[in-house]
Amino acid sequence: MAPGRVRPPPERIPSVSAQLLSRLRTAAAAVALSAASVLPIATAQSAHAAAARVDNPYVGAGVYVNPEWSARAAAEPGGTAVSDQPTAVWLDRIAAINGVNGSMGLRAHLNAAVAQSQAAGRPVVFQVVVYDLPGRDCAALASNGELGPTEIGRYRSEFIDPIATILADPAYASLRIVTTIEIDSLPNLVTNAGGTATATPQCDTMKANGNYVTGVGYALAKLGAIPNVYNYIDAGHHGWLGWDSNLGPAVDVLKQAATASGSTVADVQGFIVNTANYSALKEPNFTIDDTVNGTSVRQSKWVDWNRYVDETTYAKAFRDKAVAAGFDANIGMLIDTSRNGWGGAGRPAGPGPKTSVDAYVDGGRIDRRFQTGNWCNQSGAGLGERPKAAPEAGIDAYVWVKPPGESDGASSAVANDEGKGFDRMCDPTYTGNARNNNNMSGALPNAPLAGHWFSAQFQELLKNAYPPVGGGGGTTDTTAPTAPTGLTATAATSSSVSLAWTAATDNVGVTGYDVYRGATLVASTSATSYTDSGLSAATAYSYTVRARDAAGNVSAASAALAVTTPGSGGGGGSAGCTATYRISSDWGAGFNADVTVTNTGASATKGWKVTWTFAGNQQVTNLWNGAVTQSGSAVTVLNAGYNGAIAAGGSTGFGFGASYSGANTVPTLTCTAS
Ligand code: BGC
Repeated sequence: MAPGRVRPPPERIPSVSAQLLSRLRTAAAAVALSAASVLPIATAQSAHAAAARVDNPYVGAGVYVNPEWSARAAAEPGGTAVSDQPTAVWLDRIAAINGVNGSMGLRAHLNAAVAQSQAAGRPVVFQVVVYDLPGRDCAALASNGELGPTEIGRYRSEFIDPIATILADPAYASLRIVTTIEIDSLPNLVTNAGGTATATPQCDTMKANGNYVTGVGYALAKLGAIPNVYNYIDAGHHGWLGWDSNLGPAVDVLKQAATASGSTVADVQGFIVNTANYSALKEPNFTIDDTVNGTSVRQSKWVDWNRYVDETTYAKAFRDKAVAAGFDANIGMLIDTSRNGWGGAGRPAGPGPKTSVDAYVDGGRIDRRFQTGNWCNQSGAGLGERPKAAPEAGIDAYVWVKPPGESDGASSAVANDEGKGFDRMCDPTYTGNARNNNNMSGALPNAPLAGHWFSAQFQELLKNAYPPVGGGGGTTDTTAPTAPTGLTATAATSSSVSLAWTAATDNVGVTGYDVYRGATLVASTSATSYTDSGLSAATAYSYTVRARDAAGNVSAASAALAVTTPGSGGGGGSAGCTATYRISSDWGAGFNADVTVTNTGASATKGWKVTWTFAGNQQVTNLWNGAVTQSGSAVTVLNAGYNGAIAAGGSTGFGFGASYSGANTVPTLTCTAS
C-alpha cells in the first residue's frame, strides 16, 4: 500500500470504525486550586455575567465527582482507590435531564457541584456529555438512541433547549461547565458514509439529511451562548481518524458543524479525543518515525499507514490542524484516559525485537487490542492516567468521560426501552467485520446494556490500571514519593510569589504536588511551579511542597522557603540603596555577573528591587539570591526571603548567569529599597 493513497484501503477501514462504535466516555479531573482563582462563591452566584471564560477551565479548579458513579465504584472491592475521581455526567436521552428511574437529573448534579465547590472553596468544573442526536450511533448498534434520523425538531426543543435553560440558571454561574458534544456522530460522517467501504445505510441517511451537522451546530450555539459553558466537540481517536485521508475531512466536517445553525468557532473551546475508547495515551516503546531494517513502523500490520501511534500525538496534531482551519488559536484538547491504561501482567516492559517491523511493534505496543477498531468492553484494558489539569501544552486536561465500570454494550441481545441495539462487536465470539479488519472483537463476556454497571469490567480495569492504583486487586503501593527539593521563589511582587521546585520521584510515578502556605494547602497541581496570589505587601510567608502518587501516598514536606513580599510603594521614606554590577566571567556566548546591593539609608531595609535594561540580547538563564523577571530587555530582581533586610550601611547581593551574542555592555542599574 502506498502511503499517499487518498482513501484507506478496505483492510484498514476497520480501524476507522473503531470510532464509529466507540462510545465510551468519562471525564477527568483537574486538581489545581489556586488562591487567585478562589472566587467568593456568593459573589459569583449573584453576578452571572461576571463568569468570564478562562483559557483552560481545568486550571485552578476542582472537578465534579459524580456521587452516583462514586458510590458504585466504592461498592466494588478495591474501588475506593479511585471512587473519588471525577467522571462526566451523561445526558444520553431526554429523560436523563430530569433523571431516569430515580437517578439524579441535571439540576440535582449541578446543585451537588455547587456544594462541592463551596466545600472546597474553589471553582469546580462540571463535565456533561450531550449525547442524543437524531439517528445516533449510525455505524454501530449498541448505543443507538431514542430519536429517529429526522427528529431534529425534538432534539432542539426537547433536549438542547431544556438543557440550555438549566445551565443558564444564575444559581450555576460559579461553575465551569465543560460539555462533550455528541460523540461519534460527526466522525461517522467521515468514514462510514458516502461511498466508503464501511458505509452503513443509517450513516448515509444522516449524511444526506444533514441532521448531525445542524444538530451539533444548534447545540454549540445554544450552549455556547451561556458564558460559563465550555464546549468541546468529539474528535474521534487516532485509530479512527488518524489516517491522512480521514483527518482533513474530519476537521472540515467539524468546522462545518461549528458554523451551522448560528454557531461560530467562538462557541468551541476545544475538542475531546478517545472518548469512551481504549487508544493508548502514549506508546512508550516506539514512535511513528521508527524504522526496522529500513521499514517504517507505518507499514506494520498494527499501525497500517496511520500517521499516529497514540492519542497524545494525535491530539496535538488535531489541534494544530483545527487552528489552521480557522478554530481559535487558544483551543485546548481533552483526552479521555478512563480506560486506556493497559497495565497489568500483559504490559510489555520494553520495545519488541527488531527482527521485523511487526515483531517490533507487536512486541512493544502497550495497547493489547486485536485491532484499533475494537471498541467494546475491551479485555485486558486498565484505568488510564488519573484526571489531571494541563498535563502538556495544548492539552487542557486528562479526563474520565466514560465512567469506568459502565458497559459499552451488551454481549448478547437484551430487550430494553432505551433504544439500544445489539452490536456483535460486544460479543466475545464475534470474528469481526470490515471495520476491525476481521479480527476478534476482544470484548469481555456477560456484559450488560451500554451504560449499565458492569462489575467484572470495573475489576478488570482496576487490576490492569496504569499507572497502577492501590488496593486494585494487585499489589497495594504504599511507597511515598521523595520530598520535593530545590524549592525557590522565581519572582515576587507585592501581592504574589512565584514558586518552582525540582520534580520528586516515586516507584510508580508522581501524579501531583500540594503547595502549602504555612499550614494552609493553597494549591494542588501537576506542574512543578505555582504562583501564589492575593498576598499582602511587605509580609513574610513560608512555603512547603509535598508530592503525591496515584495511590494517594504523600511525601514528606520539602524544606521550607521563606519569602517576604516587597513593599507596594517601591521604596520611599528614608530608605535608599545602590547596586553595582560586575561581570565575573564571560565566554562569548554567555556570562556570569554579581550584583552588590548596598543600603544607603539611615535604617534597615525591609526589601529591595534592582532593575535595568540590557543594551543587547542578554537573557538571564538562572539567578541566585533573588527573584528575577525578564521581559524583553527589561530585568527586575527582587530580594529573596532571606536577604531583604539590609542593615543601614550594609550590603548583600545576588548573582546570575545569562546568554547573549554580540556586545555585552554593562547596564545602568536602578535600586529601590523599602
Ligand atoms: C451509553 C449511554 C451511557 C454512556 C456512559 C454509552 O455507551 O449508550 O447510555 O450513558 O455509555 O456509560
